[in-house]
Amino acid sequence: MEKPYYLLYPIRVALITSRHGARENVMTAAWCFPISMDPPLFGVSVSKKRFSYGLISKGKAFGINLIDASMKSHAIQAGRTSGAEKDKFAEFGIEKEYGKLGIPLVKKSPSSIECKVVREVELGDHVVFVGEAVNIIKRREGKGLYHKGGDEFLEI
Ligand SMILES: Cc1cc2nc3c(=O)[nH]c(=O)nc-3n(C[C@H](O)[C@H](O)[C@H](O)COP(=O)(O)O)c2cc1C
Repeated sequence: MEKPYYLLYPIRVALITSRHGARENVMTAAWCFPISMDPPLFGVSVSKKRFSYGLISKGKAFGINLIDASMKSHAIQAGRTSGAEKDKFAEFGIEKEYGKLGIPLVKKSPSSIECKVVREVELGDHVVFVGEAVNIIKRREGKGLYHKGGDEFLEI
């Protein structure tokens, strides 16, 4: 069966931010999900091929930045280019701000969740980072952007 994970789509997308040392990055992730209410745990499944993988693994933190329809271009930009080659914040005009953990967060995002990595689990061709939410920033209400597949999205 081709891409059986599409059976679970549409799925909400987020911008995952990270930092290690002076290197900061942002990537799009659709495989980002709640895990536990108490403590508040969230997971993000990241391929080891992503530049973000090393930053999250070494930096031990990540930001989940929700995306609304006004940010669709950022979802494609951050999801089709690698931070290994360019500073995506500067290149695509993705404005940053900082919370409690020193990782960049996306200022335009309706809400951001700052997570401290508590577990890194290699599963098949991805690595699931389990993060405990230490800071939740709600900037405004907004509909979410959902990935349908390829370059297709819908807003709910
Ligand atoms: C809509 C969309 C969803 C994506 N979801 C994920 C995901 O959940 N996990 C992942 O590892 N890559 C995902 N990607 C691919 C990465 O965002 C992409 O490879 C990106 O260029 C990685 O950036 P980096 O190398 O700077 O970390 C997704 C891409 C798009 C466009």
